Amino acid sequence: MTRKKIVVGISGASGAPYAKRLLGVLKERAARGEVELGLVLSRTAEQVWAQEIGGSIRDLGIAPWEGRDYNAPFASGSAGWETMIVCPASMSAIARIAHGISDDLLTRAADVMLKERRRLILVARETPYSEIHLENMLKVTRAGALVLPATPSFYGKPRTLEDAIDTVVARVLDHAGIPNALQQRWGEESPKTTEGGAWAE
Ligand SMILES: Cc1cc2nc3c(=O)[nH]c(=O)nc-3n(C[C@H](O)[C@H](O)[C@H](O)COP(=O)(O)O)c2cc1C
Repeated sequence: MTRKKIVVGISGASGAPYAKRLLGVLKERAARGEVELGLVLSRTAEQVWAQEIGGSIRDLGIAPWEGRDYNAPFASGSAGWETMIVCPASMSAIARIAHGISDDLLTRAADVMLKERRRLILVARETPYSEIHLENMLKVTRAGALVLPATPSFYGKPRTLEDAIDTVVARVLDHAGIPNALQQRWGEESPKTTEGGAWAE
């Protein structure tokens, strides 16, 4: 089986719990040999993580690439990374991606995804949106990215915050081509799984 090469970028928007959950699932998939996982942090990612979760992203046991270390394989199209997920995606990161400003490894990797016509998923988070934010999201969409807002759904009647977070992470995984049962599917009886369920940590 060929492993999917997926890089996760964490930028400085609110929503660190989405990133924690996403990385928990992808780390399990990496351990099963299904995924090769890369991680890159923006300059503000650790600050938001400390505020919203506490501790450091490094506590997850996934070594992140440093902000401007362009030795990372996903900094070049030739390395063949097929998917990048920026979760959460700040308006600043989206603005720079929209305008091709690859001034750190995260935005460079996103730029590579767009130029190589590969999959770029931006889990956008801000509220409300300014006209500038909306224009930038339209621009990246037209360039081939998928803007997938960090907006939970409630039709599955989530009982906990974690259940609500999973309604977003499930959609992210769907679009990354990772089959999952993180949320109750509309029109299906089968319950969600507890996969990657390190919530209590
Ligand atoms: C606790 C905290 C929460 C933030 N939440 C958001 C947010 O939801 N959306 C956003 O676009 N920026 C948010 N910001 C501001 C960004 O971190 C800031 O604009 C930063 O320059 C983004 O750059 P980066 O994503 O490249 O790290 C937040 C900052 C902090 C400290």
